[in-house]
Amino acid sequence: MNVLVTGGAGYIGSHTCVELLENGCGVIVVDNLCNSSAGSLDRVQEITGQALKFYQGDVRDEKLLRKIFRENHIGCVIHFAGRKAVGESVEKPWEYYDNNLNATLTLTKVMEDAGVRNLIFSSSATVYAAANEMPLKETSATGCCTNPYGWTKYMTEQILSDIAFADKRWSMCLLRYFNPIGAHESGRIGEDPRGIPNNLMPYITQVAIGRREKLSVYGGDYPTPDGTGVRDYIHVVDLAKGHVAAVKYTTEHTGCEAFNLGTGTGYSVLDIVNTFAAVNQIPIPYQITARRPGDVAVCYADPAKSAEKLGWRAEKTLADMCRDSWRWQRRNPMGYGE
Ligand code: NAD
Ligand code: UFG
Repeated sequence: MNVLVTGGAGYIGSHTCVELLENGCGVIVVDNLCNSSAGSLDRVQEITGQALKFYQGDVRDEKLLRKIFRENHIGCVIHFAGRKAVGESVEKPWEYYDNNLNATLTLTKVMEDAGVRNLIFSSSATVYAAANEMPLKETSATGCCTNPYGWTKYMTEQILSDIAFADKRWSMCLLRYFNPIGAHESGRIGEDPRGIPNNLMPYITQVAIGRREKLSVYGGDYPTPDGTGVRDYIHVVDLAKGHVAAVKYTTEHTGCEAFNLGTGTGYSVLDIVNTFAAVNQIPIPYQITARRPGDVAVCYADPAKSAEKLGWRAEKTLADMCRDSWRWQRRNPMGYGE
């Protein structure tokens, strides 16, 4: 089956392209490269020894999308394309609502016209309300998002479930990612954030390579075993495999369903720092600073539904995640920019 991957040049998209190609799918990517480099797709082809097709352009460009559906026999779409920086979304809400919502509206309209109704959407644990008990189940309360980025994920889930409700031929999976880290074990593709990293692991690897002096640990007084925030870190290759399982699921079911993609285990910031240092034999200097506004103390998944219905489970360990993140950074000190 041919899969259209929007945002396929990005961090999670590029790893998913590898898994799709290795599982016998044809891959067509559309990406405007606003947060990525086409070099990632060259490396996907190098890793797999297989070709993919790339269209550089915006998912909001209806004419381009119609051309892509005309020129390719597409069976399923995985929709990664979107802006994802929480802080930036607070400063530039219009850009986030425009990009993330209009991309989905244009995409689903063109899919409907082309008669392609299998869709996998990149959602996030951020859609869950902060007041929930852990672990988070797909039935836990959603909403009360703390930033425009989170609202775009929440609203997109609503839009997609309304579309699937209105026309029972649609088959959609809303994949709620927890905290993806790590990189392909080849060290050829990985996360390449622009500017100062917002997220923990890219910050740690940039400290390790000497691009940053030390890590700020945001808050040491949370009600957690060591006082630092706890998250459900998942290896990006496990996450990518979850998409292959979801593609299969959409071919066998209709409707719109949410799935957690996490490991079910929470680790603290200091667990990550210490594991990274131990596995890679590199000390990570850090200082505990004030809490970051909007952060919750603890967030981890109940991944039972994904195991039962998608037949998918995360397999890689925290040591794997730390080792693979470092291999990518060490071999590509400036990311794809080299
Ligand atoms: P990324 O920025 O590396 O990838 C997104 C890709 O989409 C980029 O290549 C970018 O150039 C492209 N893009 C953005 N807007 C576009 C548009 N209008 N048209 C065409 N291309 C466009 O991000 P990622 O970490 O790979 O995340 C992929 C998806 O997963 C995003 O939707 C993100 O919100 C979601 N997600 C990510 C995380 C995470 O921690 N990385 C967590 C939860 C959900
Ligand atoms: N942290 C630090 N220092 C840093 C960066 C992060 O201490 O420099 C801490 C945070 O306070 C938090 C943990 O590390 O306790 C993880 O922070 P990240 O920024 O890496 O990840 P978040 O859990 O805040 O959010 C991520 C994505 C969101 C997504 C969410 C899903 O950035 O887009 O996971 O759970 F919605």
